[in-house]
Amino acid sequence: MKNEVLDNLDKLGSCARDDFKNVTDSKKLDELRTKYLGRKSALTDILKKVKEVKQEDRAEVGKRANEVKAGIESLVETATKTIENQKLEKNLKEDWKDVTAPGVRPQRGSLHPITQLMQKTEDIFVNMGFEVEMPYEIDDDYHNFESVNIPKGHPARDAWDTFWTEDKNVLITHTSSMQNRVMKNKKPPIRIIVPGKCFRNEATDARHEHTFYQVEGIYVDKGITMTDMLGTLKTYFEAFFEKDIDVKFIPDYFPFVEPGGQIALTCVLCDGKGCKVCKGSGWLEILGCGMIHPKVLEMAGIDSTSYTGFAWGFGLERLIMLKHNINDIRLFHKGDLRFIKQFN
Ligand code: DAH
Repeated sequence: MKNEVLDNLDKLGSCARDDFKNVTDSKKLDELRTKYLGRKSALTDILKKVKEVKQEDRAEVGKRANEVKAGIESLVETATKTIENQKLEKNLKEDWKDVTAPGVRPQRGSLHPITQLMQKTEDIFVNMGFEVEMPYEIDDDYHNFESVNIPKGHPARDAWDTFWTEDKNVLITHTSSMQNRVMKNKKPPIRIIVPGKCFRNEATDARHEHTFYQVEGIYVDKGITMTDMLGTLKTYFEAFFEKDIDVKFIPDYFPFVEPGGQIALTCVLCDGKGCKVCKGSGWLEILGCGMIHPKVLEMAGIDSTSYTGFAWGFGLERLIMLKHNINDIRLFHKGDLRFIKQFN
């Protein structure tokens, strides 16, 4: 009996050593732990048999049984550690983060079409030698009206539906509001554009907004003529629309220029052939301009007998609408992402 039990214990020990060699995960380990140390394990059966061994042999058999049990327990312990280490290594590998790697740029929106084309406009004029100056959005009566030859009570004021503040200031109706300041502060040659937000107290529709952007331009020096104006504006429009464009001057009245007029461009949609947008004429009247009125020069302290200059003002939205074939000005500020995303 003694030998049989010792034999079984040895077999169990070597069987366990073989089995534990292949343990790779905790599920398998649990199975083996139950198989070798559980209540219904072979070891339990063998230990039951120890009682049947002769008294004098029991100590030896018992000792061996304890050794085998301790051996299996240490196999379990080693396997547990190995599995834990493997898990740790895997986690380290998978969760490893390179803190020195360059960040991933979060997805952001893009610039609003007005911003994009305002920047393009500024770039074109800066390349021609113009400086950029921002207007005040709220200004006084003098700068918005009087200094550009529209005195109080002048009927031309009706052309600008004006938002007044309670203290009788003006939400600028045009960026011409900066003409006087710019000409007072600089010495000729003066080449400035004034891009900015303007406001009109009028009903909105597909072609009118109460808030919109204008780009004013001023060029003052000795010997400046209408041809300089036509050349400057033609250069701008060709760069803006990225195609050949003709310009023509159509006389019109603005209090701050003499002669004053509109610039018409070859229709950029039909290239002058005639379409619905240009009403078949092949031309688009796009902006007001003219030779700066001597009174306006004098009010800014510029000697109108030595200096001449031209000025213009156009609405930026109209140009963007033509460039991108947009048919409603109100889309710009509606916040409709489907519209905005087209300009990514
Ligand atoms: N300020 C005018 C407007 O808002 C546009 C304009 C016309 C500006 C003629 C000028 C100009 O500088 O010479 O309608």
